[in-house]
Amino acid sequence: MYDLEKIRGDFPILSRQVNGKPLTYLDNGASAQKPNVVIEAINQAYSHEYSNVHRGLHYLSNLATEKYEGVRGTIAKFLNAASEDSIVLNSGTTEGINMVAYSWAMPRLEAGDEILLSVMEHHANIVPWHFLRERQGVILKWVDTALDGSLDPQAVIDAIGPKTKLVAITQCSNVLGTVVDVKTITAGAHAKGVPVLVDGSQSAVHMPVDVQDIGCDFFAITGHKLYGPSGSGAIYVHPDRMAEMRPFLGGGDMIKEVTKDAVVYNDPPMKFEAGTPGIVQTIGFGVALDYMMSLGMENIAAHEAGLRDYAGAKFAGLNWLNVQGQASGKAAIFSFTMEGAAHAHDISTILDKKGVAVRAGHHCAGPLMEHLGVSATCRASFGLYNTKAEIDTLIDALELAHDLFA
Ligand code: ALA
Repeated sequence: MYDLEKIRGDFPILSRQVNGKPLTYLDNGASAQKPNVVIEAINQAYSHEYSNVHRGLHYLSNLATEKYEGVRGTIAKFLNAASEDSIVLNSGTTEGINMVAYSWAMPRLEAGDEILLSVMEHHANIVPWHFLRERQGVILKWVDTALDGSLDPQAVIDAIGPKTKLVAITQCSNVLGTVVDVKTITAGAHAKGVPVLVDGSQSAVHMPVDVQDIGCDFFAITGHKLYGPSGSGAIYVHPDRMAEMRPFLGGGDMIKEVTKDAVVYNDPPMKFEAGTPGIVQTIGFGVALDYMMSLGMENIAAHEAGLRDYAGAKFAGLNWLNVQGQASGKAAIFSFTMEGAAHAHDISTILDKKGVAVRAGHHCAGPLMEHLGVSATCRASFGLYNTKAEIDTLIDALELAHDLFA
């Protein structure tokens, strides 16, 4: 049973007040709150178990290494990767995608080669490819969404041409909540010999992920959206792609031997993890994933589907609210503008006065904003602890904003 009251009790921040009102936290797409188990794990690690990892032979270093390395297996389980050796630990999706750009794509792609993206990508899955465009003459090719915000997987497959060297695509839009059929896209891309990178930043929060079932080459996730610490994350890399990658960051830990004339790299995945990592962040990330798995990803998805449907029905009753993106099966993420209203920032400020936290702006998705013909939206993004009562609070606050601006 999904015991929402108990779950909410696991997150201390949810009982605080903001601007004299109970906090209604609907900015989970930007970053999720942390359960006590994660906060306690961080405290425990720094209070009793902290040392650098992989370096010392002393008790604390071995203990920290064991805890840190254990997270690789937790992530492999969470993503259903065949081996924990396919998991590169990092600071989040931005680093993961940049690693693929520098380690895999830069040495392989030439001027005129294409990278295929959807118009819904987050800047983290755009800007690293612009680096290749600027520096190497690689062409970025875009696939549009339909009017309802859905993305036809066949349209992506059809856009793959002889020059396409990579498909880089989100599994869930951080703005619209649209869920993309990355499994079909991967099968179609592979049939044309093209690897697929999936940005799983948002999707892994809301639904079970199985990288073996998807069959993708890269799958990036970020800890802070998964109820873990900021500065933690990972990317799944298929062993065939891992073998093709050249190290991106150089430094300690990613080597076996360094002399004046040569360097022998460590085995993957450590070959791609230079320097002292986010030790405690990663330990906290592992605890967060264990927490999510203890609730059950199917249960979280079912709870959030209930929130999505409830919110969708409520929004439909507000004829002055323009909700962007209504694709079926979307995640519980809603972006909207208000007719006659001031800027999204003003709406967000009114909501904040009622204790309701949403994000307002371009959501790091410039090409999508252009495609939608808006400069900014407000976004309410739900998480595993949100309630229908909080949706009612949001609607009341929106009505107040509408009264003020109408
Ligand atoms: N990617 C985060 C968001 O969508 C920051 O808000």
